[in-house]
Amino acid sequence: MSQQHGGNLYNASQALQIPMAALLDFSANLNPLGMPDALQDIYKNGIHTLLHYPDPDYTVLRAQLSQYAGVPVPCVLEGNGATESIFLLFEVLKPKRVLMPVPTFSEYGQAIERVGGVVVPFVLCEEDSFQVPFEQLKPLLHTVDCVMLCNPNNPTSQLLDKQALLSFIADAKALGVRVVVDEAFIELTEQGVGNSTAPYLSQHDNLYIIRALTKIFAIPGVRLGYVLAKADIIEKMKARKMCWSVNGLAVLTGNYLSQCQAFLAQTRACVTTEKNWLFEQIGQIAALKPITPATNFILVKVINDNLNVQQLHTTMARQGILIRNASNFDGLNEQFFRVAVRQRHENLTLLQTLKRVLFSR
Ligand SMILES: Cc1ncc(COP(=O)(O)O)c(C=O)c1O
Repeated sequence: MSQQHGGNLYNASQALQIPMAALLDFSANLNPLGMPDALQDIYKNGIHTLLHYPDPDYTVLRAQLSQYAGVPVPCVLEGNGATESIFLLFEVLKPKRVLMPVPTFSEYGQAIERVGGVVVPFVLCEEDSFQVPFEQLKPLLHTVDCVMLCNPNNPTSQLLDKQALLSFIADAKALGVRVVVDEAFIELTEQGVGNSTAPYLSQHDNLYIIRALTKIFAIPGVRLGYVLAKADIIEKMKARKMCWSVNGLAVLTGNYLSQCQAFLAQTRACVTTEKNWLFEQIGQIAALKPITPATNFILVKVINDNLNVQQLHTTMARQGILIRNASNFDGLNEQFFRVAVRQRHENLTLLQTLKRVLFSR
């Protein structure tokens, strides 16, 4: 079964001959509250707009994203998911050597290598809960022309210390090194966009931010992400971007941005309670060691030598629960898996199934 990414329900259902509807997906890390009702209404009421091509300049969507992110319109560019934004940004930055703490989201490496860049991995330490040690990264800045950071990081669920990050960006700037920060999960951390570097964009012209609406509104099928960057880079990205790469449903999503704050507050409350609870509960299972999470997913280490994560993944899936085998992340091994934080009744099902599978071996 392909395990390149989580959330591949189709693949899992085919491989295990289990109907998709019978699988509870803990492998994709989406908002546990699901798609907001008001957004669903916007899609239903706007279905007629799909009769037309989207505005190729995305004038309204860009204004909505700009307003939401608090960044001027010329500094914003929509993308077909954060994934298109990542690839397009690296196409324009064309870095030669990119310092990248690992484990992290695998598409960065693909995007960097596609433009002839080399990833310089910095392997994060499990003993330090995979926190990024900026003091150790700083001496490496003169060996690279770009740094890729994910905040909070997938799959470790660790948040960067904001002051340390800002000081690192300033040091990188002094050396002419660009810093890309992927904030796809930032709204799902306890302080939400309070953890974002977006307010510092105008101060640091070496800072590039990737964002997504995918995770926060649980809309992976819609494909909507965006980049925040200085205007000349956005112009270069526009020139390379495929016309209409962002579809009509994604465009409609922009209409929800001005009214999403209550939903995001409700989401943060749910994620905070559930991530703490699930972390504690998993920690009570003798064979497992969860890493303290900062957002809506938890990286878990299997500390029983006789237990193989691939087997655990398959056995759990046969019981209707999909977890993310995390062994294919650079910097991890076959002892690690990742689970999304979902709602309490679903988290209970995950725990019961984990215990049943582990204790019946
Ligand atoms: C950190 C991170 N950035 C970006 C993405 C891609 O997001 P999108 O589905 O919007 O392309 C993912 C998907 O899992 C992710 O984990």
